Amino acid sequence: MSKIIRASEIGEYRDQGYKVIDPHLHSSASYDVFPIPALAPRNLAAKLLRSGWDMVTFTDHDTRAAYDDLGDLEGVVRGAEITIRPKKLWDYARPHTMHVNIWEYSDDEFDSVDAISRTGDFFGMLDFIRSAKLPHQLNHPTIPGFFERPDWSYLPAIAKEFEVVEAYNHRRSKKHNEASLSLANAFGLGTTSGSDNHIGLPVRGTLVKGDSFPEMWDRIKAGDSLIVQGGLTYDSMKQTIQEYVRHFFRISPEDLKEYRFRLKSERARMDKFMDTVITKKTEGSVLLRGYQSKLVEAVFHYVGPIIAEFAYVRKQNKIGEEIFTFLDGLLQEMELSYVQSGQGE
Ligand SMILES: [Fe+2]
Repeated sequence: MSKIIRASEIGEYRDQGYKVIDPHLHSSASYDVFPIPALAPRNLAAKLLRSGWDMVTFTDHDTRAAYDDLGDLEGVVRGAEITIRPKKLWDYARPHTMHVNIWEYSDDEFDSVDAISRTGDFFGMLDFIRSAKLPHQLNHPTIPGFFERPDWSYLPAIAKEFEVVEAYNHRRSKKHNEASLSLANAFGLGTTSGSDNHIGLPVRGTLVKGDSFPEMWDRIKAGDSLIVQGGLTYDSMKQTIQEYVRHFFRISPEDLKEYRFRLKSERARMDKFMDTVITKKTEGSVLLRGYQSKLVEAVFHYVGPIIAEFAYVRKQNKIGEEIFTFLDGLLQEMELSYVQSGQGE
């Protein structure tokens, strides 16, 4: 089991030879990150490596495009976050969309994983990842896709399919993370802590010794690593929203058009809403011109976090709490039947 440490202890462990990684970070190669130069893979990686990171990895959604931009930049580890909506998950009627990070893949390996994930063959994808020996982890196991209402009773069985589970995701609320951690601990899995950041602000979440990523990953699997506690707070959410607002009002109209094109969610209502917001900006409507634009920016800057607190943070806390309680009961029940069946010796 990884040891959980506080952020204030990181320096001490670095002195002992631990390296710091953020195993969950997005660059502008992700469809949901603003296409601005500061977030472009090469610029962001160079900036992070300059500012003292030993190693940088981008885990963009279902793409290896960041690595076309990065070439063979030293200190960079190839990563990706694969989305899979399982067509079938044993006999469960409502499996949820899952996110699996993979690393150290070749172009061909990525393309195979990507192709299988699109068919929804969850176990086929895992088999491929395992046989190619790609380091991988299950991200934020308790977070479903939009509008999904899964039956969470299969979560323990899913977690058991992995050797490493993301325990602390710094964009998710405390109870969600506690649920992930208890899942991992119930089966003695390795754990990580990562930012899942979309605005270029990684966290020093996972500390591990090793000279190469595979070596480090072996230690993480064995629980021979440290993870830094963290999660969504009002302050972290406020910082994110204000950074988004700042970026949004500085992004060029051409780049915004690209962003609008990428952001298709396949949910007609949501796409229409985003289109309205973005088109207003790209076409320079009177409302968003000049000083008025500054005013709108200022309003969003202050009101955005408050809206998000009500519409997002509170909801996430509530759902996280429900899943945590449900899972806690389930895991206790499992442990009980395990002991009763005489396997718990
Ligand atoms: Fe992510």
